[in-house]
Amino acid sequence: MKRIFSGVQPTGNLHLGNYLGAIRNWVHLQDDFEDCLFCVVDMHAITVWQDPADLIANTREVAAAMIAAGVDPERNIIFNQSQVSGHAELAWIFNCVARLGWLDRMTQFKEKAGTDKERASVGLYAYPNLMAADILLYKGTHVPVGEDQKQHLELARDIAAKFNHDYKTEMFPIVEPLIFGTATRVMSLKDGTKKMSKSDPSDLSRITMTDDTDAIARKIKKAKTDPDGLPSEAKGLEGRPEAANLVGIYAALSGTEVTDVLGEFGGQGFGVFKPALAALAVEKLSPIQDEVRRLMDDTAAVDAVLRSGAERARALAEPILKEVQKTVGFLHP
Ligand code: TYM
Repeated sequence: MKRIFSGVQPTGNLHLGNYLGAIRNWVHLQDDFEDCLFCVVDMHAITVWQDPADLIANTREVAAAMIAAGVDPERNIIFNQSQVSGHAELAWIFNCVARLGWLDRMTQFKEKAGTDKERASVGLYAYPNLMAADILLYKGTHVPVGEDQKQHLELARDIAAKFNHDYKTEMFPIVEPLIFGTATRVMSLKDGTKKMSKSDPSDLSRITMTDDTDAIARKIKKAKTDPDGLPSEAKGLEGRPEAANLVGIYAALSGTEVTDVLGEFGGQGFGVFKPALAALAVEKLSPIQDEVRRLMDDTAAVDAVLRSGAERARALAEPILKEVQKTVGFLHP
């Protein structure tokens, strides 16, 4: 059995990296996989402080963006994590399977905790165990994500393998990351060596799914570049992270390859390329943004999707969680 699970945190406006690196790629998976679960991971979100009202609004917005991007809520299961208590229950068991040494190696914790590790929440540290639980609560086999999640998925594999080994079972599959598309790592518009992220203090570093036409044009115009024009071959982008990023975004948005983009724009300056990129971004993003806005005015419809998604997710999770509890030796007479 092949089953997809993926998640997005409702921690602020979704950006182009989330769209190109993840959500957009989910649309076609429903044809190849029987069950696809797409989760708004609100429990992961509170590992750093979230204003409760904002968390509710952001949860709806991420669900709306999934739907607007073309993820069909009938054929796929769209829900928010906290509605299915099995995520927390399995995460606890995994807290007891994963080793401190494994979590100590997680680069995302180091980045997010910064220099003041003592003040980070315990949840932020244990975050990857919850992520493993998300996937394995459904015996998920394939996980479509951007490149930044690779290390967390390796940990999920280690947890599954250790659980299977310790309890002498073949309960959990060893999950496969699906990292595909031409934009597995979209970089900041202000620094081509840093990934585009929701937590970057500069709003100019990212294009969000709620930016209007003017904002998109302004951010692309102000994006960092170098003084050279665009090369005609991909090799000419080496050592030019900002140029490579913008060309990569163009390729991803237009559904072509970097070589095609350079075939068209090679030899031109950014004065020509940037307006073309802005026009393309607006053309591709605005229909999705319009649909997100429409759905955000109809919260009852979004809530209905999340409610029914959670019901369907619970039905899949329940027998698996029971099997795990029995394996561990939890007596439920
Ligand atoms: P999150 O919310 O940070 O990001 C959601 C998805 O967007 C991808 N992504 C990017 N892709 C390309 N370029 C970027 N700059 C970029 N930034 C983000 C991420 O790789 C991700 O696919 N821990 C996860 C959420 C999660 C999860 C899971 C994912 C929780 N449980 C189970 C998969 C399976 C996270 O924080 O994603």
